[in-house]
Amino acid sequence: MKTNQASIPDLLQKAYDPESFRAQGHRLINRLADYLANMQDNPALAVLPWQSPDDGLFSWQADYAASPDQPVNTFWDRVLAQSMHIHHPHYIGHQVSPPVPVAALSALLSAFLNNGMAVYEMGPVSSVIERVVIREMTQAMGYGEQAGGLMTSGGTLSNLTALLAARQAKAGYDAWQMGTREPLALLVSEEAHYCIDRAAKVMGWGEEGVIKVPTDEHCRMRVDALETCYQQARAAGKKVIAVVGSSCSTSTGSYDPLPAIADFCERHKLWFHVDGAHGAPVIFSPQFQHLVQGIDRADSITIDFHKMMLTPAITTALLFKEEKYSYQTFAQKASYLLSEQEGEWFNSGKRAFECTKRMMSIQVYAILKTYGKKIFDDNITHLYELTQTFAQQIQRRPYLQLALKPEANIVCFRYVGKGLESSVLNEINAKIRQQMLEEGRFYIVQTQLRGKLYLRTTLMNPFTTVTVLEQLLDEIERLGAQLIVSD
Ligand SMILES: Cc1ncc(COP(=O)(O)O)c(C=O)c1O
Repeated sequence: MKTNQASIPDLLQKAYDPESFRAQGHRLINRLADYLANMQDNPALAVLPWQSPDDGLFSWQADYAASPDQPVNTFWDRVLAQSMHIHHPHYIGHQVSPPVPVAALSALLSAFLNNGMAVYEMGPVSSVIERVVIREMTQAMGYGEQAGGLMTSGGTLSNLTALLAARQAKAGYDAWQMGTREPLALLVSEEAHYCIDRAAKVMGWGEEGVIKVPTDEHCRMRVDALETCYQQARAAGKKVIAVVGSSCSTSTGSYDPLPAIADFCERHKLWFHVDGAHGAPVIFSPQFQHLVQGIDRADSITIDFHKMMLTPAITTALLFKEEKYSYQTFAQKASYLLSEQEGEWFNSGKRAFECTKRMMSIQVYAILKTYGKKIFDDNITHLYELTQTFAQQIQRRPYLQLALKPEANIVCFRYVGKGLESSVLNEINAKIRQQMLEEGRFYIVQTQLRGKLYLRTTLMNPFTTVTVLEQLLDEIERLGAQLIVSD
């Protein structure tokens, strides 16, 4: 049907109706509040209502085909019921925080306002608030007045952006304009997150561009091996421009020794980047901040708010000791959007990879304004302390074996039973983890360390208790014993 040019189509009128928005919003918030209460009070609930990807696809295809105009709250209820429940105290898996409600509500505000903020006028509030949040973070890290940074969509992108800045600063020519003219490389621990490797490959450095430094028995970078790795790389014709330290590593939560890496970088005039996506917020905990001693000597730092800082994904800060370097990362011209003016901190698109960006700063600001920095200390100190207790619980059980003493809130361990052959342990632990995944009572993950498969837990939820952790270990032992009998 043809519409009158001036009239808004009915469907659009309906979609933007303020009163139905109000009603739907109230229903959703009520539902989420009930959900949160249920998570805290009802541990018998499955943390993950498991179904295979094919079964999930089949059921959603059927849903889609069945009723094209079902009420949206029916859909939301199904999404809630079938999702991974990060707020469940039995969620002890990957490094994702259960967002605090004020941050999640701010994310809704961001989604609704949609102030994409590539340039200041498209996000006047979030651009300025980003500056305030970044300032808070640079000060926390011990950086001085020259410091600054930006927010970006995730640790992966932040690390890539930092390494692009490092390349521009250390290549000795305008690598952004001219491309790389010789084989460039970086040094990083063999335990670092895979995104460092990916960043080097995105920059075209290839496999040869990532030199893996061996780790010690605590899975920390062996700084005594740095010099040899560096000299070997040079002898092979590579130009090493950066060292990446992990604060902490992903698999085991091990903190690389930052002061020694900083000394090395100073000696060789290399860029020092710290991937603190998970563990740099430990700076807010007086009890555990010694783990990142020396972080103020890094040229750049990545921090994810959506890991240890109670914020919805994905919300990341990239900090520079000297902010000027952040303006050189992308020396691109785009006259329709970006001015040629140097140093415009308020035009996000100049320094961030993204053009359009979520108003992520308002989520962090909401937490800071509502609870202050203390909430980060409370969360981190509580979870890191709980992790130490958990490690002791594991050590008290002869059928379980700790991979290494945890420094962060990540614990790797495995079921070893009573005198089981080491050759069967990988398979048994993989089966334990798979069974736990499918049963859905607890959510934990797994990792490989030097050829051995370990169960891996990250204590992310402050509502996880010592009793819950004891029940988790009982469950692992029960499954382990069952598997031995059935084999
Ligand atoms: C040390 C480290 N760096 C980077 C990342 C990637 O971060 P994101 O998922 O925010 O891209 C992770 C994720 O687990 C990590 O642990």
